[in-house]
Amino acid sequence: MFRKIVLLTLLTAFSGSLFAASAEERAQTAIDTRQGLLKVVASYFGPIVGMARGQIPFDAAVVEKNAGKIAQLAPMLEDVFAKDTRESGLQSGAKDGIWEDMADFKGKAATTTERAIALANAASQGKGPTMKAFGALGASCKGCHESYREKDEG
Ligand code: HEC
Repeated sequence: MFRKIVLLTLLTAFSGSLFAASAEERAQTAIDTRQGLLKVVASYFGPIVGMARGQIPFDAAVVEKNAGKIAQLAPMLEDVFAKDTRESGLQSGAKDGIWEDMADFKGKAATTTERAIALANAASQGKGPTMKAFGALGASCKGCHESYREKDEG
């Protein structure tokens, strides 16, 4: 009995907060979520940029681990961009084209996943092959940004 009440209370609280959110709040949450995912992607990408620039020593184990994480995160891009926020009028770096050609957007995310896997595999082959694979991964980020991210957002 007690358990049932707890469960009901939890369910009510959860659905309450879910349905109480306004359309604008839901759009803002979607924007925060996708930007958050990309921040996490960048947090794994950043150390490899440092290695490529010679700012930190090359570390194959870190490259392999971080590339593996990016390969796990990139497939989430299509999920966190599923919500169309074009009509919200809220500020974000996402271009409208994402929701005009979602298949192309998903394809670009899939390229990033493939190249992150290739980078993880290249890491054990030394710095040269690793940095070549890293260049390809970086080009896949850029490829999507050029089409779908506002320029002044970086
Ligand atoms: C399939 C498309 C796509 C791919 C692939 C992609 N990005 Fe992005 N990225 C975007 C879009 C769109 C935004 C703007 C999102 C927004 O502001 O709502 C963005 C924003 C960002 C941001 C800013 C996040 C913030 O608001 O603070 C960073 C950092 C970033 N991307 C890094 C990367 C890196 C690094 C890679 C490659 C490993 C990558 N992205 C691959 C589409 C992509």
